[in-house]
Amino acid sequence: MNTGADHGGAFWNAIGPDFRHLERRGSIINADVLDAWFPPSQKVLEALKEPSEWLYRTSPPTDGDGMITAIRDARGVDEARIVLGAGSSDLIFRAFLMMLRPSSRALVPDPTYGEYAHVLSNVVGCQVDRLPLVDWQIDLEAAKQRLNTEAYDVFVLVNPNSPTGQVLEPSEVEAFVEAIPARTMVWIDEAYADYAGITCESLVNDSRNVVVGKSMSKVYSLSGVRAGYAVGPKQFVEGMQLRTPPWIVSLPGQIAACAALGDPAYYADMFEETRRLGRELAHGLRALGGTVLEGKANFVLWFLPAEIRTEKFVKRCAEQGLYLRDAASIGAGLDQAVRISVKDESSQHRILEIVRRVMEGC
Ligand SMILES: Cc1ncc(COP(=O)(O)O)c(C=O)c1O
Repeated sequence: MNTGADHGGAFWNAIGPDFRHLERRGSIINADVLDAWFPPSQKVLEALKEPSEWLYRTSPPTDGDGMITAIRDARGVDEARIVLGAGSSDLIFRAFLMMLRPSSRALVPDPTYGEYAHVLSNVVGCQVDRLPLVDWQIDLEAAKQRLNTEAYDVFVLVNPNSPTGQVLEPSEVEAFVEAIPARTMVWIDEAYADYAGITCESLVNDSRNVVVGKSMSKVYSLSGVRAGYAVGPKQFVEGMQLRTPPWIVSLPGQIAACAALGDPAYYADMFEETRRLGRELAHGLRALGGTVLEGKANFVLWFLPAEIRTEKFVKRCAEQGLYLRDAASIGAGLDQAVRISVKDESSQHRILEIVRRVMEGC
C-alpha cells in the first residue's frame, strides 16, 4: 500500500518484505535510501547486546525521560523544549496536524523532502505555495520577502536540504528568523545537519516561532529503531506532549538513542569519513559523464548525461542489484537526476562499476 509521498526503499522488493530472506541484503546496494553507511556506535551495540531477550518483552520508560535527559546533556537544549517521536516523520505528522488547519498557508521550498508537501496538502489539507531554489540553494531573501508581504503559518527549511545537500549557515538562518513575522512558524528539519557539522537547535532557546526537527535515523545510524525528537517553544512542546502516546520510542530505541548521544567522538569520525567517501563517489560519477551536485550530506545528486533516460537507467541498475532514487518525483528541475547515498568504499566501487555497465547499454 502506498498512500503518501514517494520514498526510496524499493530495495525491499529484492529482499522481500516478509523478512524470510534477510540474507539477500548482502547482494543488493540500497543507495535509494539515505541510511548511514556505517554501523551505530559500539556503545549502542554493547548496550543492546546483553539484555537482548528482556528488551523485547519489557515496556520502556513511559515518557522517555532518560532519553530526554540524554538529549539535553548532549545537545544543550532545555528539557522543557524537547519532545520525542518515533522518528522525525512521526513528529512532522503530529506537529503539523496540531499547528495547522485546512485554512492555513504553508511556504515550502521546491525541490525539498517530499513528505512536507504530502502532509500539508493531503493530511492537513492546507494551501501549499512553493519557493523555487536558486542555484539549488534555498533563497532566504526571497522567503523573507514572501513571509513579510503575505500571511503564512509555516515555512519549512530542510538544512542541509534534500535532495540537493546544500547548507545554510546557522547565522544566516538566525538573521532570517529575526527578519520575519512571529506569526510564521519556521520548521527547520535537521535530518542531515550533523553530516555538515551545523545545527540551529540553540535558536529555540530564545524563539517563539522556531521548531527544529531532529531525526536520529540518518546521522546516528538508527533508521531501524525509529527514534527522533523536536525542540521548540514551550507551548509547542506542551501541545505535542498532550498528543504523544505512551512508549512512543521503543525500548531498543530509547537505549540506542541514549548510547549514541553519549558517543559524539565516534560519530564525528564517521561524518568526516562520509565527507571523504562523498567526494570519492562524486569524482567517480563525474568521470562517467553528466554533472554532480555534492552538497554536505551523505548523498550526491547526479544529473545524468542528456542521452540517458533516467527511468530506464534506474530500472536497469535495480536489475543489477543497485537501487538508486529517481529524483524526478522530488521536485522541479530534477527530471534527469538520480540521488545516490554515500556507501562504504567497496560498495561505492560496485556502484560505479554497475553504473558504468548500465550506461553502456542505455
Ligand atoms: C529531510 C528528511 N526529514 C525527515 C526524514 C524522516 O526521517 P525519520 O522519520 O527516520 O526520522 C527524512 C527521511 O528520509 C528526511 O530525508
